[in-house]
Amino acid sequence: MNVGIIGGGTMGSGIAQVAATSGCVVKLFDTNQAALDKAEISLEKILNRLIEKGRIDTADKNRIQNNISYVDNLKDLADSNLTIEAIIENLDIKKKVFSELESYVSDDCIIASNTSSLSIASIAASLNKPERCVGIHFFNPAPLMKLVEVIPAIQTSKEVLDKSVKTISDWKKVVAVAKDTPGFIVNRVARPFYGEALRIYEEGITDFATIDWSLKTLGGFRMGPFELMDFIGNDVNYTVTETVFAAFYFDPRYKPAFTQKRFSEAGYLGRKSGKGYYEYDDNGRFIQGDSVIQSESEESQQLAKSIFNRVLVMLINEAADALFLNIATAEDIDNAMTKGVNYPKGLLAWADEKGIAWCVEKLDELYNEYHEDRYRCSPLLRKMNRENKTFFN
Ligand code: NAI
Repeated sequence: MNVGIIGGGTMGSGIAQVAATSGCVVKLFDTNQAALDKAEISLEKILNRLIEKGRIDTADKNRIQNNISYVDNLKDLADSNLTIEAIIENLDIKKKVFSELESYVSDDCIIASNTSSLSIASIAASLNKPERCVGIHFFNPAPLMKLVEVIPAIQTSKEVLDKSVKTISDWKKVVAVAKDTPGFIVNRVARPFYGEALRIYEEGITDFATIDWSLKTLGGFRMGPFELMDFIGNDVNYTVTETVFAAFYFDPRYKPAFTQKRFSEAGYLGRKSGKGYYEYDDNGRFIQGDSVIQSESEESQQLAKSIFNRVLVMLINEAADALFLNIATAEDIDNAMTKGVNYPKGLLAWADEKGIAWCVEKLDELYNEYHEDRYRCSPLLRKMNRENKTFFN
């Protein structure tokens, strides 16, 4: 299969590696020669590291490298069966590139976008044959993250969707099919992990380190929300939240937090700037933060439990509502969170484990306390509770 990748930055170069590793003939296109050079040099380093770790041998390395060519003319992608675009997140620029690309490729070439925040319908509309357009959304770093969201636009043909799902599965990725709605699955369902943690902090309930500690020790999350926001970058994470909030017509459930906005404005971006919620050295290693309120006292154990329960139930509510609104199947929603952002368990399976009645009760407690719409319980959870149902089995 011939695969054309447009944009050789972080995502494009990673996707090129994935496709080439699976035996596809890949052309990586970028308008910036320096980006192509960087992609080629970094692939060499990555493959050498994989050899050192014993994951591949020299023959594999040569094969992968020989499968990728680096091109600076969009016309060179003319013989592609599939193209995946990973350029700057700007609709006008993407539309221009897509319509030029369509003039070169054959009629049956699939034209996909890796966009995180634009609608696939709006991108597809730039094509003469919009039914060939689909969202194929990888996670960073593309070679390591197992999940890929595949997003059909309302214009996408069934054949294009099926072929895309098959190709990405052949690339040994876990596919979750998502409706063309803001944030798709992961960037929608994960919002409360950050938002509720920030809200708990803003209410003065406790500090960053204690919130992180509660979610890691009681929830088994690999990183707490503040560590994770520092890792992603407060500017990047804030922008995703703000974009999702606006895209949902300002549904209060997705409201961004002033704390994160101020951290972002102050340049406290996290690891990359040396300071975020915690402090880091030049190599991005943690130096300093608040110390966790970690006593064995009944009071601090209760505090940790209430923080964990509050964030978890908000995540479950978001996952249940995504199912309620047919964003994806229950299996795909759970796979998305475990394979896309390494959650220790799928949120719907977690809801079953905690009990649907427990979820409804906790959400109603929050709603009764605050009377804010952000704490409204999903109608699906309420209905399941009435009917004594579970998500699985
Ligand atoms: P990046 O800034 O690392 O790379 C973008 C590349 O596109 C640059 O090399 C740039 O020279 C090139 N480019 C810009 N305009 C171009 C044009 N008109 N023609 C050809 N090449 C052009 O960006 P990154 O992070 O790789 O993101 C790319 C896309 O992937 C965006 O749509 C983003 O929303 C999406 N995405 C990003 C993720 C991330 O974690 N960085 C995760 C999933 C999706």
